Amino acid sequence: EKVVLAYSGGLDTSIAIKWLQDTYDVEVVAYSADVGQNEPLEPVKEKAIKTGAVETYVDDLQEEFLREYAFKGLKAGALYEGKYPLATAYSRPLIAKRMIEVAKEEGADAVAHGCTGKGNDQVRFDVSFQALAPGIDIVAPLREWEFGSRGEQIDYANKTGIEVSATKENPYSIDRNLWGISIECGELEDPTVEPPKEVYQITNHLEDTPDDPEYVEVGFEQGEPVSLNGQELGPVELVEQLNDIAAKHGVGRVDMVENRLVGIKSREIYEAPAATVLLTAHGQLEDMVLDRETAHYKDQVAQKYAELVYYGQWFSPLRKALDAFIEETQKYVTGTVKVKLFKGNCQVVGRESDQSLYQEELATYDKSDEFKHESAEGFIELFGLPLKVNGRVHNE
Ligand code: ARG
Ligand code: SIN
Repeated sequence: EKVVLAYSGGLDTSIAIKWLQDTYDVEVVAYSADVGQNEPLEPVKEKAIKTGAVETYVDDLQEEFLREYAFKGLKAGALYEGKYPLATAYSRPLIAKRMIEVAKEEGADAVAHGCTGKGNDQVRFDVSFQALAPGIDIVAPLREWEFGSRGEQIDYANKTGIEVSATKENPYSIDRNLWGISIECGELEDPTVEPPKEVYQITNHLEDTPDDPEYVEVGFEQGEPVSLNGQELGPVELVEQLNDIAAKHGVGRVDMVENRLVGIKSREIYEAPAATVLLTAHGQLEDMVLDRETAHYKDQVAQKYAELVYYGQWFSPLRKALDAFIEETQKYVTGTVKVKLFKGNCQVVGRESDQSLYQEELATYDKSDEFKHESAEGFIELFGLPLKVNGRVHNE
């Protein structure tokens, strides 16, 4: 019997290799994906083998992650509870999809992951596994095993010959990819406490950001970012470069208390510099090219989309149907947006599109005005008619 385990190289998933062997007498295939953690995966592979995995996979999924997941959310304008750009949430269905493919190649009858029983990630993995391979066995060692503390885990690791890094373990739980970083645990669990500086992985503290603003021009084609400052870039390079630029100015920090799917509230810190700039710029380009009714309707879709992604419903018919709607709205979302980055702020200061519905002749207050002022009176008369009638009947 074989199981494909989502493997990060950390203590939890290393112990999971041994635990799966001991508890279920299975062979473990370790699966690791590069979604832009910014960490070499070759050592992770070696560690998996040393810990007892019979086979390891390391995939570079960075481009697929952006094109097929994060950029779909960008086009949707998705932010969970108005703040979280969903970096972790997009990565889970992609990793799950690849794991199911590997399970088929390897003839494995089960998949496993190292998520806790309190989080959203377990839901995202398990629901994706079920959607893609109905009936496959799913094992979540952290939901089952009996280690009461980190200490007990370390004892088990020592006993079974798993290397535990000598350095004191990071007190925070950190999940990183190109779209952003999620940080939890430690002192952050007290929502009254300002996050200690060392929590932040890539963004500068406002105290340390440059004293001069920096401008970035983002080019979009049908809703997808394609260039920075006039230079065409592939998605991975573009997001990497934009992460660096915006992080330097302290852009993209989020400190929030959010509602997890499993019913608890949790305090979360996010860093998503590129995602923040792209979502802001993309939204303002849409303001130029979308007609009012589509734009307003799309805001509602964005909220639903964010919920679906957060709730692990990536492989649902509704997500696909919403994507079809969103794709249609992106037809004309082509143009450039000029963004000013300064002291944690990301402000759009200019936008330009050949598809723009903004007509200066209609908007202007000077002589070249083409707007028919005389028509306004009749329009307002009828537009206000229901309230006029209401007033007649109900005003005392
Ligand atoms: N609360 C965020 C989410 O649900 C972050 C999860 C972070 N996951 C992790 N394994 N550290 O998407
Ligand atoms: C986890 O439980 O693995 C992390 C937290 C989460 O999924 O929300």
